[in-house]
Amino acid sequence: MIKVITYGTFDLFHQGHYNILKRAKELGDYLIVGVTGDIYDLERGKLNVRDSLLTRIENVRKTGLADKIIVEEYMGQKISDVVKYDVDILVVGSDWYGKFDYLNRYCNVVYLERTKNISSTQLREQQKIYNIGIISDAMDDGSIVLESKYVSGIHVESVFMEDEIRAEKFSEAYELASSTNKLEEFFKDLDIVYVRTNLEDRYEYSRLALENGKHVICENPSTLSSDKMKDLLDLASEKELLFIDNVTLAYLRALPQLTWLLNRELIGTLLKVHCSVSVEYTNQYGMVDHLTNSILVLLRILGNNYNDIKMNPVFNKENELIYNQITFIYDNRIGIIEIGCSPGTRNHMEIQGTNGRVDVPDEWWNMGYFKALEGDSSKLKRYSFNFEGTGMRYLLHESLLMIMQGSEESKKLQPEEVYNIVRIQEGILKKLNEDYTHEKI
Ligand code: CTP
Repeated sequence: MIKVITYGTFDLFHQGHYNILKRAKELGDYLIVGVTGDIYDLERGKLNVRDSLLTRIENVRKTGLADKIIVEEYMGQKISDVVKYDVDILVVGSDWYGKFDYLNRYCNVVYLERTKNISSTQLREQQKIYNIGIISDAMDDGSIVLESKYVSGIHVESVFMEDEIRAEKFSEAYELASSTNKLEEFFKDLDIVYVRTNLEDRYEYSRLALENGKHVICENPSTLSSDKMKDLLDLASEKELLFIDNVTLAYLRALPQLTWLLNRELIGTLLKVHCSVSVEYTNQYGMVDHLTNSILVLLRILGNNYNDIKMNPVFNKENELIYNQITFIYDNRIGIIEIGCSPGTRNHMEIQGTNGRVDVPDEWWNMGYFKALEGDSSKLKRYSFNFEGTGMRYLLHESLLMIMQGSEESKKLQPEEVYNIVRIQEGILKKLNEDYTHEKI
């Protein structure tokens, strides 16, 4: 019996897919079809898939051509599939010519001519494209232009800047379709506005965008005032629009996994979560603005029921804030955020439990890896979650899904969480600006 295997995403199933399955089947007696899994697609940064895995499998099944359907879950799986199923021929479209020659050691690799003039990409392009406009005051796009290219269905179209000449330069640098310094004109053809100005202007611009019926993605922190944050969240909800705070960490796979594992007592009962962040010298506003990820992690892992927050700021001779330790006190556990601009402060996150420890090294907010030492340190477990680019594409992807499905609230970062984080930041800032007595925030 000749066994044939072929792989694909098979999104928006089309004639090209049918043809390659048919021709693959004709090469042997038994056809195995590998359909790419959602997590595999996420990990390799393919965020344009429209159909769910179940739909894609069902569409392959309905052709009646596949004798067996498997899910392709990780890079390198092809070799083990070929060996495991004792495959004779691996078939793939000519767009992959040469790419699978390394499998010739295990089976015969056959590249078949693609069907002309049809692809999932082409079909996706016929669907609605959501236009994004950037409101900025600096020549930096926050990587949204590049990151958006990996998410089909959205396109960064234009930029608004108060200075018309700079807007034009920005638009040229990032190859956007248009630039303007007139807000009315800017809002006209947009679905989503990305606010990337100085902190002081983010609230006003976000509000204007929402009032004009646009979904908003705002650089974090959107504001350090809880009243203003509430106002934005309420307005968005009232108008059934999205207001997304750009906290990439919340959109990566690692954080929910870590939280889940800790809740399942991976390292026993939790004792301490310690987040350290090293920053360039800044003022107290800058320091507080760097606290978002740490507060998010503490609240996610330890919960909202802290009894008190205490603070130990350290100033240099010029009376500049150079270091701060903020302690969240819970019953039987603590959360510590250490933030400083001395070379001695390193980026690191450590979680201690009664039966071990979790380490998230270096820039832990770009969370792609962590390790757990259970019991005695001989029991080491490593967890890794690849993500591509800056991670922003995952936030864009999630935003697009919510817009298309008509959901106002992010599943990944709830409005209450955003509000709570700002409320804590506001309290810390207030204390820093007033006095340093350890009063409850
Ligand atoms: N295929 C084909 N002819 C087409 C499109 C796809 O023969 N017109 C083949 C591919 O070469 C691959 C398989 O079908 O071997 C699954 O392809 P997949 O990547 O799922 O489909 P595409 O339409 O190429 O998707 P995309 O546009 O997202 O790359």
